[in-house]
This record gives sequence, structure tokens and C-alpha cells, in this order.
Amino acid sequence: MKKWNVYATRRIPEPAISTIAKECNVLLNNNDRLSIRSDLLDGVRNKDAILCTLLDKIDKEVLDSAGPSLKVISSYSTGTDHIDIDEATKRGIYVTTTGDILTEAVADLTFALILGISRYIVRGHEMVTQNQWKYGWDPNLLLGSDIHGSTIGIFGLGKIGTAVAKRAKGFDMKIIYYKRNSKKNIQIENELGAKNVSNIDELVEKSDFLSLHCPLNSETYHLIDRSKLKRMKKSAYLINTARGPVVNEEHLIEALENQWIAGAALDVFEKEPPLPNNPLLKMKNVLLLPHLGSATFSTRTKMAKVAAENLLNVLNEKNPIYGANLKS
Ligand code: DGY
Repeated sequence: MKKWNVYATRRIPEPAISTIAKECNVLLNNNDRLSIRSDLLDGVRNKDAILCTLLDKIDKEVLDSAGPSLKVISSYSTGTDHIDIDEATKRGIYVTTTGDILTEAVADLTFALILGISRYIVRGHEMVTQNQWKYGWDPNLLLGSDIHGSTIGIFGLGKIGTAVAKRAKGFDMKIIYYKRNSKKNIQIENELGAKNVSNIDELVEKSDFLSLHCPLNSETYHLIDRSKLKRMKKSAYLINTARGPVVNEEHLIEALENQWIAGAALDVFEKEPPLPNNPLLKMKNVLLLPHLGSATFSTRTKMAKVAAENLLNVLNEKNPIYGANLKS
């Protein structure tokens, strides 16, 4: 039986690579780190499929290097901002993703960030473990902000935004949301008491927690900039589990330095990892995580299975489970 040729840019959790290897010759970037550009360009040459992660920029140059044999780019991610989908589509190459598998895990982490930033969870832990908690219970120690009764503003009420809204209802929060280019979600409004606001400025102005759940594209790049941050309440927090560049990080730093907002909890950054001299790393009013939204064993394992299935399905002329472009 003919074996397909696959370049895998990263060792992702099993059973992904072993499943693919039953039907394909897999060239695996074994360094267990990001493939450097020249390895990526060499690795994809004459391959039928690429298994990549969100760190691999799959652009025209990579597609040219792969050549006409390439049929599918299976991304071990839900976001597709690292792939030139238009160019792939023009060439008849499938782009596949891990779809909504990570929805609940990301929504959980969003709440970890909301709780963490507003109730000083990390600062409190450090205080205890570093023996800085000197005098027992203190009426004025680390007083944070209430989550119950506050307003969460959800930008992007897709699958993840909706999962966040469900959790927010459990916390007795008021839920407002804004979706670009789309109408009210009547079902969610009825079920969760969520209210659609008519524009992003209203969302920004009314939120105590502004939580971003949109893809990164030309419309959302630097969506949260100086003007939006200035409109936020001084007591509000920005929560970002979407993509770093949705927020203009330089403007966010300015906002945090000048206390235009109370704080920011970020799982994603404009540059990952942030440079060591990034001022965010030294700030007190932030909570920063290394892009952990989908990082649970169960979610990452399911993502790996789907990434393998997507890839094999396309090679075997079946529909991928989660396709981002072509329909067959
Ligand atoms: C994705 O898949 O897009 C997440 O950001 C990482 O799992």
C-alpha cells in the first residue's frame, strides 16, 4: 500500500504521530521545539501533508516549498491565524483545525484568570509561601473586587464566548456581549439573561471584566487600543485568552502604568514568550500565563486525535472533522 509523506513540525501528544505513522512516512522535527524556518521549508518539501502547530507560520513560501503534492495542512490548534488560508484554498489544499474541542478548557481558564486577577490569588499564595504573611488575619489585606454582581463584557459570542457566559451566570454576573457582523443570540439571551450591546464602545465602557473571545484577523488586530482602554472603567480588568495581537500591548502597558484600568490577566501576548524586558513582566496589576488555555491532558489528547484524523481523512478523500476551508 502506498504510504503518504507527512512533515510533523512538533511532537504532539500521542496517539497522533503513531496513528498517522500507520499510513504515512512521518518526518518529525525531533527537536521538540519550534522548527526553525529553514527546517520547516526543507521538511515540507514534496510532502502530502503537514501537521503543524500555531507557532508555524504556513505562508506562501512554505506552500511553494512543499510543492504540488501537498493536500492538507492539519493544525494542532483551533486558531488559524498562522496559516495563509486564502493561498491554501487557491491551491486546493485543505486546512483543518481542532475546532471546538478546547472550548470548555479555555472557558475554565478564563475564569481562573478572572478569579486570579480580581482576588489576588497569586499574590496571596506568594505571601504565604514566602513568609511575608506576618500577622494573621488582617482586615485590610489584599482586598480585591467582587465577581458576583459585576458585569462581564464578552467580545465574540462564539463557542468559547458562550461557554464563558454560562460560567458567568453561575457566578451571578451580569452578562453583556458584542458580536461583530452578527445579530443577537436570542437563545443565549433567554437562557443566560445576556444582553447584546450595539457597539464595542458600549461593551468596553460597561464591563467590569472585558473578556476577549474572537479570532485574530485583519478586523480584530489591535482592536483593544489606547482609545478603547481609555473608555474602560478605572476599576475594570481586561482578560485575554484569544490572541495577543488583538490587544495593542504597548497601549495596554501605558494603560496599566497610568491606572486607566485596574489590571489585565493575559494568557496570550503579542510575542510569545514575551521578551525579558517587556514591562508587563514587572507589573503588579497583571496576571500572566504562558498560553495555557487548552492545556489539560484530556483536551490536548483529544486535539491530538482529531489532528491525526483530520489529516488522514483528507488523504483518504474523506471529509475532515474540522475543516477551515474547502468543502468536499
Ligand atoms: C488554539 O488551539 O488556537 C489555542 O490557542 C491553543 O490550543
